[in-house]
Amino acid sequence: MHITSILTSVALLLALPTKTAVSFSPGVANRAIHILEEASSQNIPVDAALRRYAKYQERSYVKSEEYKSISDILRNISISQYRIDWQLREAGVECSPENRVAFLKKGDPLECRGMDLQTTLECPDWAWTGLKEAFPDEEDLSKELRALMQPAPLDLRVNTLKCEERIDALREIINAGYDATSTPWSPIGIRLEERTALGRIPGLLDGIVEPQDEGSQLVASLLEAQPGETVADYCAGSGGKTLQIAASMKNKGRLYSMDVSEDRLERGKPRCKKAGVSNVQRQVVQEDMTRKDKWLKRRKGTFDRVLVDAPCSGVGSWRRKPDARRTWATFDDGFDGGIDRLANLLPLQQQILQRASRLVKVGGRLVYVTCSLLPQENEKQIIQFLESDVGAEWKVESPPSDFAIPFEVVDGQFLRLTPAQHNTDGFFAAVLTKHG
Ligand SMILES: *[C@@H]1O[C@H](CO)[C@@H](O)[C@H](O)[C@H]1NC(C)=O
Repeated sequence: MHITSILTSVALLLALPTKTAVSFSPGVANRAIHILEEASSQNIPVDAALRRYAKYQERSYVKSEEYKSISDILRNISISQYRIDWQLREAGVECSPENRVAFLKKGDPLECRGMDLQTTLECPDWAWTGLKEAFPDEEDLSKELRALMQPAPLDLRVNTLKCEERIDALREIINAGYDATSTPWSPIGIRLEERTALGRIPGLLDGIVEPQDEGSQLVASLLEAQPGETVADYCAGSGGKTLQIAASMKNKGRLYSMDVSEDRLERGKPRCKKAGVSNVQRQVVQEDMTRKDKWLKRRKGTFDRVLVDAPCSGVGSWRRKPDARRTWATFDDGFDGGIDRLANLLPLQQQILQRASRLVKVGGRLVYVTCSLLPQENEKQIIQFLESDVGAEWKVESPPSDFAIPFEVVDGQFLRLTPAQHNTDGFFAAVLTKHG
């Protein structure tokens, strides 16, 4: 039987409500299918496969209507693949890119009677237990997972090194015709509701504003780095939070941007230059935890503040990377699935936390951050840390007095930002002080 007729009969069988067929040409559909197949055979995220595809087209391709339609289809599939596959399986049809695109094109409702909650909420196995624990109330759980299925707004951080008043940057952006507002919680954030071509936003090319989710701004602000201090951004990556910390230090003092990857750190260089940041030093950290890192050893107990933005499952970023639900589980060779990868990650997070904590001087502060919502990566890591030998010198700190959002996790000790409650990506943060 042809796929379309099978699906029609399924739809009839389940007496589904409304249906909105989506129009796109067979050519567009075929290209979308091709990209989905590439992503799956090469085990890369769908958006990476799309970028790769676009690279082989003309320069202007990414501005074309076709590109927009394809990227729309791909996003919609990524955000509904568990539900589509569930329906395809019910219909006895293979869960292939071709059948998924055909399903989307027909515009049948994604949810239907008999579908289990986990599928309805587009949650992979490896995150389901943890998320249920994080949100024991089913209604909260549903709200959060549904919010993670929505596209994220585009948030910008105002670079206070170049523009002291947010309102000035905001006014420029509004005057250029954008629908922009101040972010509700972060005092240095601007929100654009419509995703637009980044390059045209006033101030972006001059480093006056920088794309950064409001949640990310908020957790980095918990460090409260001051001018003249010695500070480390311990898992800096390409350095989005480093830029924010440098600005809060007014370029004065020493800021170490640290990572196990020299490549990632290198990528931070031009960003610092554009942002007018001049107090950053880059330091590669020894990745193999069984080996001594002399640099770290020499600097034990010398830092005023350390931010540990730990490598994590990225559950909190699903709005931006919808198919990370699937790719995170299978991304690295040697992992059988997300649960295994998570099991591998947890001890690493603890080691990173312990190692980074040794850098901090007595009276100094450590902020532990993840973009995850899973308790194993978050509050449980901190509790385990506090119970360890190293952690015995540490205590949990309350939030800064002017911090806009209450700490609610584990009797108000830790911060959790969620897409449904705060309209940010999902984040966790703990603020710790070393008492010696
Ligand atoms: C993708 O989803 C959006 C929002 O639900 C919808 O408006 C749009 O028509 C969909 N596009 C495609 C190609 O499925």
